Amino acid sequence: MSGNRSRIAGTGSYLPARVLTNHELERMVDTTDEWIYTRTGIRQRHVAAEDESASDLALHASRKALEAAGIAAADIDLIVVATATPDMVFPSTACLLQSKLGVRGCPAFDVHAVCSGFIYGLATADQFVRSGQHRHVLVVGTEVYSRILDWNDRTTCVLFGDGAGAVVLRRSDTPGILSSHLHADGSHAGMLSVPGTVCGGKVSGRPLLQMDGGGVFKFAVKVLDDIVGEALAANRLQKADIDWLVPHQANIRIIRATAKKLGLGMEKVVVTVDRHANTSAASIPLALDEAARDGRIRPGQHVLLEAVGGGFTWGAVLMRW
Ligand code: UT7
Repeated sequence: MSGNRSRIAGTGSYLPARVLTNHELERMVDTTDEWIYTRTGIRQRHVAAEDESASDLALHASRKALEAAGIAAADIDLIVVATATPDMVFPSTACLLQSKLGVRGCPAFDVHAVCSGFIYGLATADQFVRSGQHRHVLVVGTEVYSRILDWNDRTTCVLFGDGAGAVVLRRSDTPGILSSHLHADGSHAGMLSVPGTVCGGKVSGRPLLQMDGGGVFKFAVKVLDDIVGEALAANRLQKADIDWLVPHQANIRIIRATAKKLGLGMEKVVVTVDRHANTSAASIPLALDEAARDGRIRPGQHVLLEAVGGGFTWGAVLMRW
């Protein structure tokens, strides 16, 4: 057995083929490319095909992550899927993914922390590796938000997109993941929610995303400020020690505020929100995969991941690449 810390051994991602631009949205709701871009930084988003589910997107991303890690699906001994848009009430998307990967036996479960889902999933997986129980953990963020948007509501439908990202965590002598920090405050549940469920064979409530955008914005900037400070302090690191910020991609203005707090130039921040919009639990692993594959993130560098989302939930993971 080698060590009991975890490090990312491979990344992968997948975006559905269909691209929906701001200009197309101009023909669907009362909005403009200019409004969307200046308020959010978004130019376009990807939308899943009718027959593509969260587990399908996850499968594509997972295969790429497994290939990058140089392992087979059978080598995975735990699967953690973060999603707020599961294929069905149950089984979990993680179990469906396991089956699509053609393996069986290893534990598989979903974590539900909305836009912070990947941070929650990665932190959970890290604990399983630290416990010594697991050697290779597949952590996936996958979302089909196009299914839970009210396409007549211009205040929300312009903001989100579909996609999936995955990482393979491997047991290692050296970290890897230095620390993870998770928080939640359920008292703001109504500020960002999909207030519906299934009851007696019918949909009960209104299972479409609703958000107090301004309220979420203020809350996000505040807690992200706090969480980056918490992650640095826990590792006795200074702001200048951070080489890369890989933030949840909700709004370029929120991302800029966090970068400013860290004293980081935007060239040290991985940004995908312009092309992907907000893909919730998938946004961080999508961005991480892009920056890992194009060689921006190099071995030994400090990488800070952070997110805030419905719940509210928020968190950060600090790692050495
Ligand atoms: O992943 C975590 C969850 N989500 C977030 O982090 C999102 C956080 N919030 C935000 O990103 C921003 O608050 C938004 C992008 C949602 C909104 O930006 P804002 O600068 O806070 O705008 P606002 O909500 O104050 O709206 C300004 C105006 C309003 O019109 P009035 O009341 O000033 O006449 C809106 O009705 O913009 C209007 N508006 C739009 N106009 C054109 C709202 N949506 C649109 C739209 N196109 N799509």
